[in-house]
Amino acid sequence: MTTAVCPGSFDPFTLGHLDVVRRARAIADDVVVAVGTNAGKSALLTPEQRVALVRGALDDAGLEDVRVVAFPGLLVDLCRELGATLVVKGLRGGGDLDAELPMALMNRHLGGVETVFVAADPALGHVASSLVKDVARYGGAIDDMVPPGVGDAVRAALAPTADENGKDAR
Ligand code: PNS
Repeated sequence: MTTAVCPGSFDPFTLGHLDVVRRARAIADDVVVAVGTNAGKSALLTPEQRVALVRGALDDAGLEDVRVVAFPGLLVDLCRELGATLVVKGLRGGGDLDAELPMALMNRHLGGVETVFVAADPALGHVASSLVKDVARYGGAIDDMVPPGVGDAVRAALAPTADENGKDAR
């Protein structure tokens, strides 16, 4: 049995991520979505929120047999723990390859884990978590780029607190 891991920060999980997980499920017998921390990015959503949103999206998509875990450390340590031999990631273009190739080589160096890249659905080639957050930050529509429930969570996380509005938060 081949266990594959689909890792990412998923801040937030998008329809592009969902497409990659669905395709990983066609490649491997067992798929685990791994919600990690990219040290180079500061997250909008907490790990708990991201795990819950991924879980909801997978259940809605009929992917109940795909597990979701949060991992605080190295991806290769999680792969060893799960007995996973494969990492599956999507590539939208050359920029993604530039970012992903060093990670794939590092994971192979550290843990002998192979990475398989799937070509992103061209219809979702513009869908990136960072852009989704940027659009939402300025009041743009994001609900057709993310699974149900994700848009509300992003908007709530971006909403200014009473403090930031200059009002008394108490
Ligand atoms: O969605 P992202 O930003 O492409 O996800 C990147 C992530 C979280 C998968 C990557 O940064 C990661 O694996 N972080 C865990 C730490 C680690 O294993 N680093 C060394 C190999 S890149």
